[in-house]
Order: sequence, then structure tokens, then C-alpha cells
Amino acid sequence: MHVTLRQLTVLEAVARNLSYTKAADELHLTQPAVSMQIKQIEESVGIPLFEQIGKKIFLTQAGKEMYNYARSIQQLISEAETVIEDIKGIKHGTLTIAVASTANYFAPQILAAFKERYGGINFSLDVTNREGLLQHLENNDTDMVIMGQPPRHMDLESEFFMENPLVAIAPPDHPMVGRRNIPMDDFLQHTFIVREQGSGTRTAIERFFSDRGKEMTTSMSMSSNEAIKQAVQAGLGLGVVSIHTLDMELELKRLAVLEVESFPILRNWYIVHRKGKRLSPAAISLKKFITHNAKNIIH
Ligand code: PGA
Repeated sequence: MHVTLRQLTVLEAVARNLSYTKAADELHLTQPAVSMQIKQIEESVGIPLFEQIGKKIFLTQAGKEMYNYARSIQQLISEAETVIEDIKGIKHGTLTIAVASTANYFAPQILAAFKERYGGINFSLDVTNREGLLQHLENNDTDMVIMGQPPRHMDLESEFFMENPLVAIAPPDHPMVGRRNIPMDDFLQHTFIVREQGSGTRTAIERFFSDRGKEMTTSMSMSSNEAIKQAVQAGLGLGVVSIHTLDMELELKRLAVLEVESFPILRNWYIVHRKGKRLSPAAISLKKFITHNAKNIIH
């Protein structure tokens, strides 16, 4: 019998879900690709593993046996991974990470998910604005940094892992709430509460308007997203903040997102460190973990 690990993974997913479509979704494959893999295993095994009755599929006796073996094999592979990770030292030590204040709205969730898998690793986390992050990179005193657009003037390695849309916010009873495609000039007639000098969000907003030959009138600057949200809620002005900072306020309808022309402002998140830096095995696995899983962990 010649069966590949890939085929066993597909078999396990189809058997567990009793659905080609669900298995395809889970494995990020097309449904015909899944059917093809199953057909190939059945050819190799020499006997049907599934039978279709009406719209439903069922496991045959041979299918049930193969499903059990597929699960045992997957289990053994994951055990082997754990043993090897221990040997490599991935599961121990402390990782020092610096994240943008805005990234701190999701960073703990990612680190918690990572820790669930690599229990022995501890974190030391510095939350600071973009300027603080540039200083960390300059000093090379962290394992990695999570930030917006990496600066061009430094020799860095950076990896994109998630989008960071910046949206316009107003109190829910503001007259522009619910209006479609608000002209930028109407929006800019209001005054704004902005982040402090040195914030990446602030720089991105200023650049967005200056690229369009426009300028915003700012009434106040504040050194945290929380302070901005409170001030906007209190009616002190409008704001532009990362969507990642807004989960609760939108759910509780304490703030509303305005549909301004050309919005949201598109920004991205990157994992960044100095070029040529020798990352520890734990740091390498955190970097991989973030690039592969962040989007699924953060909603
Ligand atoms: P900030 O950084 O928290 O300094 O605004 C976020 C970013 O760079 O997009």
C-alpha cells in the first residue's frame, strides 16, 4: 500500500467531517482536489473507503480502519514534533518583544495561543509607540518588534502578517453616522483628536491627507488609543484609529465608524528585527507562528 501523509491528512479530515466540502474548507483545498486525493488512496488501498448514499457519505469498514490508523499516525507525528522541539530548546526561555501600542490590542491573544502550544516560554513585552520601537531596533535589544511600516533607513528583515485598516470614528449620535461615502472635505471640516508625535498611526494619517493635498485640524493630541476613544465618545472631536482598537466600542455602540471617501487608510503589521540577527529557536518559532496564525486568531 502506497499512501502519503498528505493523503492521510485528507482522509482524516473527510472521515471526521463526513463531508468533502468541509474537509476542503478546513485544508484550504478545492473540493475536486479532495475527491482526487481520496480516489487515489482508494486505488492504492484497493477497496472503497467511503460510500455515498443519497447526499450523505459514510465510511465503509475499511474506511473506519484507515481513519483510525490515520489518526494514530497524526498523533505520532505531533508527538515526534514535541520531542524534537524540546531537543531544539524551542519550549524554554524568555522572548523579549516590543510592540506598537496599537498592536497591543491583539498581541496578548497571539502570545497566549503560542504559549498554549509552547508552554515553557515566557515573554517580556514592552508596549511603546513607533518611535520607541525604532529605538529598540537601533539598540538591537529585543528578539523582535511588531510594528507598522518598517523604516527604510535601517537594515532590517521584516515580514508582513496582517492588515491594519485605520477607520474614522465618531460618537454614535453624530450627524455623519450612517451617511454613505462622506466627502473628505466634509469630514475635514471637523476637528480631530490625534495620537502623540512619534505614533505610527498619526504619521500614517498625516501622510494620507497630505498626499491628497489636505490637512486635518487637530484640537488635541493624546498618547493612547484608549484616551482618543474616550475623548471621541465624549464629543471632543473625531478620530482615526486602527480597527483593532475598536472591538468593544463597536459592539456596545459607544462609537460608530464613519464611511468617509477613500477610507479606511490601509496599513499593515510586520514582524521586524535587524538583518542578520541570530534568532533563538524559540524566536524563530514565534515568528513562524505569528505569520501563519495571526490572521486566524484575531478577528
Ligand atoms: P502606534 O503604531 O501605536 O505608534 O500608532 C502603530 C503603527 O505603526 O501603525
